[in-house]
Amino acid sequence: MSTIKTLSGEELFKNIISHAKEYGYIFPSSEIYDGLSAVYDYGQYGVELKKNIREYWWKAMVQMHENIVGIDAAIFMHPTIWKASGHVDAFNDPLIDNKDSKKRYRADVLIEDYVAKILTKADKEIAKAREKFGDSFDEQKYKTTNARVMEYLSKAEEINQRFKTAMDNNNLAEVKNIIEDLEIVCPISGTKNWTEVRQFNLMFSTEMGSTAEGASTIYLRPETAQGIFVNFLNVQKTGRMKIPFGIAQTGKAFRNEIVARQFIFRMREFEQMEMQFFVRPGDEIKWYNYWKEARLKWHLSLGFGNNKYRYHDHLKLAHYANAACDIEFEFPFGFKELEGIHSRTDFDLKSHEQYSGKKLQYFDPELNQSYIPYVVETSVGLDRLFLAVLSSAYQEETLEDGSQRVVLNIPPILAPVKAAVLPLTKKDGLPEKAREILEELKFGYNCQYDEKDAIGKRYRRQDAIGTPYCITVDHQTLEDNTVTMRYRDTMVQERIAITKLSEIIGEKMSLKTLLS
Ligand code: GAP
Repeated sequence: MSTIKTLSGEELFKNIISHAKEYGYIFPSSEIYDGLSAVYDYGQYGVELKKNIREYWWKAMVQMHENIVGIDAAIFMHPTIWKASGHVDAFNDPLIDNKDSKKRYRADVLIEDYVAKILTKADKEIAKAREKFGDSFDEQKYKTTNARVMEYLSKAEEINQRFKTAMDNNNLAEVKNIIEDLEIVCPISGTKNWTEVRQFNLMFSTEMGSTAEGASTIYLRPETAQGIFVNFLNVQKTGRMKIPFGIAQTGKAFRNEIVARQFIFRMREFEQMEMQFFVRPGDEIKWYNYWKEARLKWHLSLGFGNNKYRYHDHLKLAHYANAACDIEFEFPFGFKELEGIHSRTDFDLKSHEQYSGKKLQYFDPELNQSYIPYVVETSVGLDRLFLAVLSSAYQEETLEDGSQRVVLNIPPILAPVKAAVLPLTKKDGLPEKAREILEELKFGYNCQYDEKDAIGKRYRRQDAIGTPYCITVDHQTLEDNTVTMRYRDTMVQERIAITKLSEIIGEKMSLKTLLS
């Protein structure tokens, strides 16, 4: 039996980041030039994990649904698209600078962090009371009767309301007043010497065409969704799609995030996996509930445990939505948004109709009428999912003999390398036999061959990159065509016939078992 080392969230996160770099998962972008803020490169194992996550999503969404098809729209799109979608006018964050440290912050994040600290104090009081009163503790009652907790909660609510009103009225001076009234200081300089708050558009722009021809400003897409909306009729007509149907897409998106931190959680260049589901007007809430449940089930199929996920229903809805929620995941730095499910009404298609002057309607043969469909969207960040997988999989263990191992318990279907074939020694024909096995397995799985160092060291190397199966070829193999199969998670070893290897490796990767 091994014991798992308990790490604080901060320690765990730090260790994951250095492990990801040390083992070829993620490198800071342009590292030899001191990096580029909030941009990362995926290394040799990272790219495999990312590809496998993308594929697992694609199979679950496209292959498993007769009425969902995929597309791959270009990153560059006609600039009017971003006017129609509302991004040119409203895809903003309120920013503020500290004049002393010259650091830039999101004004809303400064206020949210302040409120979060108050709520943490309330949570601590509640936790103390729970410990004191045990099973008889009634949390709801305590929140409405304990003077200190009530004070914390009402203060938090009051700040939230004041901030919401300020933002709804686009009153940026009031946002600054809130920061000043709360006496929020810059974490770097420790001063309250703030600039005015101003809106900052998150889209990156560039020029298309040479200046001589008259270049026009175009944007790097901040979401993949619009590529789906503008192709709605192309796909519907050529695919003879009948409502309800969906269009899925994975691809890069770009946002000039002001506060880009927490590793790959919030990046300036990232990848989204989105699906727009087109439904009859009036049916959208039914489908919203369906996708809310279906998407959580998909996340749960990865096996990280129910307690790692929770819904966060949006009370404040974007102008285009009539229902929205996040699936939040417990990252090492707490529960944060992993995926968004949005009922986007007919806002996008209607707006594109207006701006393009082209009809974007569906003729419903059952109703014998044309209408603009309503849309339910599922949108998950591939890099964020990557971080969720990595942070759930990372484990530091002390083994029975006192030695340490770092293991990535990545679900086999996502693991970059599925199996490593290891000859016990470099002689007596064992490497040749091992290569023979590898040559056969590589048609089905991404496998590795490793003959360097003692077998224990090679097992540790495979644990650290998350390889679920190690296949050791020894002298007995030459006699009876069996090998030792060593399982990453349990470290149990058993003797297996070579002919059985492919089946055993495939067992835990069956889509039927995982998704049905
Ligand atoms: N089309 C809807 C849309 O883009 P969103 O909530 O802005 O909605 C969807 O983004 C998902 O994209 C988020 O849940 C998150 O997983 C991911 N995402 C958004 N911004 C990101 C960033 N800067 N870095 C990494 N992932 C991001």
